[in-house]
Amino acid sequence: MAERLTGRAMDKLVLQGGQRLNGEIAVSGAKNAALPIICASLLTADTLAVDNVPRLQDVATMQRLLAQMGAGVERVDGGLVLDAGRVDRPEAPYDLVKTMRASVLVLGPLLARFGNARVSLPGGCAIGARPVDQHIKGLQALGAEIRIDHGYIVAKARRLKGARIVTDLVTVTGTENLMMAAALADGETVIENAAREPEVVDLANCLNAMGARIAGAGSDRIVVRGVERLHGARHRVMADRIETGTFLTAVAAAGGDVVLAGARPDTLDAVIDKITEAGARIEVGPDRIRIVARRRPRAVNLRTAPYPAFPTDMQAQFMALNAVADGTGVVTETIFENRFMHAQELMRLGAQIEIEGNTAVVKGVRSLTGANVMATDLRASASLVVAGLVADGETVIDRIYHLDRGYESLETKLSAVGARVTRRR
Ligand code: EPZ
Repeated sequence: MAERLTGRAMDKLVLQGGQRLNGEIAVSGAKNAALPIICASLLTADTLAVDNVPRLQDVATMQRLLAQMGAGVERVDGGLVLDAGRVDRPEAPYDLVKTMRASVLVLGPLLARFGNARVSLPGGCAIGARPVDQHIKGLQALGAEIRIDHGYIVAKARRLKGARIVTDLVTVTGTENLMMAAALADGETVIENAAREPEVVDLANCLNAMGARIAGAGSDRIVVRGVERLHGARHRVMADRIETGTFLTAVAAAGGDVVLAGARPDTLDAVIDKITEAGARIEVGPDRIRIVARRRPRAVNLRTAPYPAFPTDMQAQFMALNAVADGTGVVTETIFENRFMHAQELMRLGAQIEIEGNTAVVKGVRSLTGANVMATDLRASASLVVAGLVADGETVIDRIYHLDRGYESLETKLSAVGARVTRRR
């Protein structure tokens, strides 16, 4: 069963600002690659072994979701051994889906392997409505009959049939759901306007190791030639580029000299460009990034957009960096309609931010002052950690269960390079 994680509902993080960061941090496996790859295990009766799986709340939730379907889910060393051979309940109940929208990623695999699925609609979330209409439209194009019944997506299909799908917008999990469904469909599927995120590529690599025939992952045109069945495999999850980027902004803000070991610089071009523009010095190796920050950062302008452009999951962290930078930075969020909730909390620490629609104008101040703040969503929490590392005095971040969803032992990793941060029950 899913392991109990350290985080508890009312935990807080307490930070004393002002320490420079020096040393080495090991980057964990990518949450947003691990989640779809865990769901890929549903596509075969064989065993799927997944290495480098981070110990996160969201991963534990996905483990619970598969276990309650009847799958075997076992934590072995740093990874998971998944066995969906005895799945007898192709369902994802509301009580689990409401805590993690990524649960919708079981829909495509269940439909492809079992011919039916009953998955709760995810409902809204803090950062936006986040509908799944593109997932449904694509599965219908593959021949699925889908209806919404009492808040559930009820889907069935004798056997999915390859088709050409053009999504109305770029959707990461939408692309992943359709790629997994198409892997077992009869014939060829082309997904146009596909998401190009590295996590989509990692999933495609895992599926191909399982016997799928996927080409074009990483481009906006993915071609899947359906096969009768998939077999087991062993796959190592890629490094988490958003965790890596979060540490880059922490060092750029606090100052110091840190090596991020196990990082994938090739998945972070837009972030590395912006960190360099902010004045930090970056050295990259094939599986490491060194950042040296000696001076106060310079303000940068950024505009989020689908990969390979600047990632929306790094927007909040850069707003914290801009808050203490020299100059004024303009931050534009084009992916989600309500992803500025961290701005209010940063202003409690003394940040000067003007919000106009999907644009935030951040006027850097010499220093922030510590205060009690509240995490509102996963990456907002990360931006408050970055701010707390540099604010004068003590910052207490409440509701850090948001943080525990997507960061493995963040306070331990930061303390190891000199930050003064502790978890308070
Ligand atoms: C994935 O979410 C990530 N989650 C998110 O990371 C990330 O912010 C997002 O992609 C964008 O990069 C996982 O991979 C598990 P989308 P996803 O479908 O797939 C709209 C984090 O912090 N849309 O690419 O749910 C949607 O509302 C999380 O780790 C539709 O309208 O995002 C949004 O505005 C947060 N209809 C935009 O498209 C659909 O059917 C992009 O959403 C699907 C999406």
